[in-house]
Order: sequence, then C-alpha cells, then structure tokens
Amino acid sequence: MDKLTRRGVLGLGAAATAYLAHELYRGGSGWDEADAANPQIAQANRVLNLYSARHYDTDKALYTGFTQATGIRVNVIEAEADALIERIRNEGANSPADVLMTVDAGRLWRAQEQGVFQPIQSAVLNRAVPANLRDPQGNWYGLSRRARVLIYNKARVKPSQLSTYEALVNPQWRKQVLTRSSSNVYSQSLTGALIAIHGVPKVESWAKGLVANFARSPQGGDTDQIRAVAAGIGSVAIANHYYLVRLMESSKSEDRDVAAKVGLFFPNQKAQGTHVNICGAGVAKGAPNRAAAIRFLEYLVSPKAQAMFAQGNFEFPVVRGVPLYPAVAKLGNFKAETVSAAVFGRNNPEALRLMDRAGWR
Ligand SMILES: [Fe+2]
Repeated sequence: MDKLTRRGVLGLGAAATAYLAHELYRGGSGWDEADAANPQIAQANRVLNLYSARHYDTDKALYTGFTQATGIRVNVIEAEADALIERIRNEGANSPADVLMTVDAGRLWRAQEQGVFQPIQSAVLNRAVPANLRDPQGNWYGLSRRARVLIYNKARVKPSQLSTYEALVNPQWRKQVLTRSSSNVYSQSLTGALIAIHGVPKVESWAKGLVANFARSPQGGDTDQIRAVAAGIGSVAIANHYYLVRLMESSKSEDRDVAAKVGLFFPNQKAQGTHVNICGAGVAKGAPNRAAAIRFLEYLVSPKAQAMFAQGNFEFPVVRGVPLYPAVAKLGNFKAETVSAAVFGRNNPEALRLMDRAGWR
C-alpha cells in the first residue's frame, strides 16, 4: 500500500467502520447477516452484495430495476472507496462482497493489486464496454466516463487562448492555474495518462512547470477549483466536467452564478484528446453470488441502465448511442483520449512519485 492510500484508510477507518456496522445491523431492506455468513443461504435468497463508493439517488432505481428483471435483491454497502477495499481485504475468504464499484481507474487498479477482484469472462461486457475502458483480464469494467476538462474565467480568458494540458506550463498562465492536490486520484490518473503518452522525464518537467504556475497551493475538491476560477483567484482550472454541470443544475442561485462566470474547454483536441476516466466495477474475489454479480454488471451496460447510471452523476455512458443528460449533451462532442484505463491505472504509483518530486502537494 502506498503512503497516501494508507493515510486515507487510517483517516477514514473509524468513521467507515461505524457506518458499515450501522448498515450491517440495519433491519428491513438492509443487510441480512445470515446471507453474509452462509453463501448457500445467499444463493437460495437470490441476493447480490454490492460494495459501492457511489451514492446517487438514481442508483436506487437502478437496483430496483435489476431486482424486477432478475428477482435478485441488491444489498448495498456504501462507503468511501479505500475503506471498502480495506474491508474486503480484512474479510478475506469470508467476504460477502460480490461486486465492488468505485470511481477512477487508478483506484480500480489499486483494488486489483490488492487482490480484491477476480477476472471474469463476459461476451456481453466485452461487446458493450470499449477495450480501453476495461481491464484486459476482466477484473473490472468501466460503466461511465468523465472528462477532465479546463474550466476558465470567461471575463479573463478567451477559449482560443486554451489548447492543451501541456500548454498550461506556458508563462502566460503564471499564477493562474488551479488544480487539486497530488494526493487526489484524479490528479494521479491524469499524470499517469500523460506518462503513457510522453514518458516520465517530459511529464516531470511538465509537472514542475504546472506547479510554478499554480495560483495557490492545491486545496479542496474540483468544485472548489471552479469556484476559485469564478472568484478570480486563478484563470483556469483542471476539473472533471460533471462538477460544473452540478453547479449549472443546482437549485441554489449562487451556484448557478458561479457556473455562469466560467466556460468549459475540452483540451488536447488536436492532440491525443481529452483525458477520460471511468466509474467502474468488478466481481469480488470470493463473491458468494458470482453468477448474480456477472449478471448485475451485464445489466448495468444495457442501454436503459446506462442512461440512468451516467445521468445520475451527469457523466457520459460507456455504451454508444445512449442518450445524455440534456446539460451534458450541450457541452458538445469531443475527442477522448484513448490511453487504456488499465495503463494509466497501473501508472498510478509512478505518477505519485513524479508529482512528489515536482513539488505538487
Ligand atoms: Fe468526482
């Protein structure tokens, strides 16, 4: 386990454990201990134990749809991703987990490295999910896509001044660039993808240049970067597209005011394309309900489930031709980077070390 992962797990350990214990003993539609303890009973009851780092209201409707289609009940344990990975590891061979769902290929790779997944074969999944958005061995599959875009202050920047992630190191952006910390997996995956394209030495000098252009030392999440751009703390931020859509669609007028002050730019359109990451899932190593787990993943790539899954977080589906949320459709078409999520996931430790050397905190 790397330094940053360990820090995250320890930091969240107590809270996550309390949360999970609450879930475990919840009555009614919640977790059934007998199911958890005895795989045969679990089979007989036709359940699926989903460990999920996602928590959108629309997901509940998705799980209900699966139960209606298959008769398989879905037990959901929601917690922060690293805590779920740690929990499955601690449960070992007795783990009731059937499916682990989380965001970011870097994190899926870490889960795979820690032996949390088992490879599966599914013609349905292989047909539906593009090859660069799934693990070649079938350990995990991308279920939705998120673009890491540039968000700019409309009063200060013309879109014609923007081009690529690489160009953000140019002197014109001195003290103008906002992005989150290197301890964040989104930063690590973008860097990991750039390593796949340019190699370590070039990306290391890029990271140094980016740090030199930071408007402030990294703090907060992607939404905080967007707010800082709107407030003029910097001119351009690197952020996932759905954080802007959330502000655009917010019921709070102050959020919509923030969104109105900024523009979204898809970088690297004349180069490798905009960096795209995934939300994904895989079958857990000791899955007591393995067949149900595979069926669940196959259900999630059906067109109807794909639309709900992606729209729940204003993301792009992985399956072609599935309708987008209207505000997401309005962002326009873009060329997506084709670096395999398995490759930039695997580059995660190298990316971390590189950002550390570059002084990206
Ligand atoms: Fe996110």
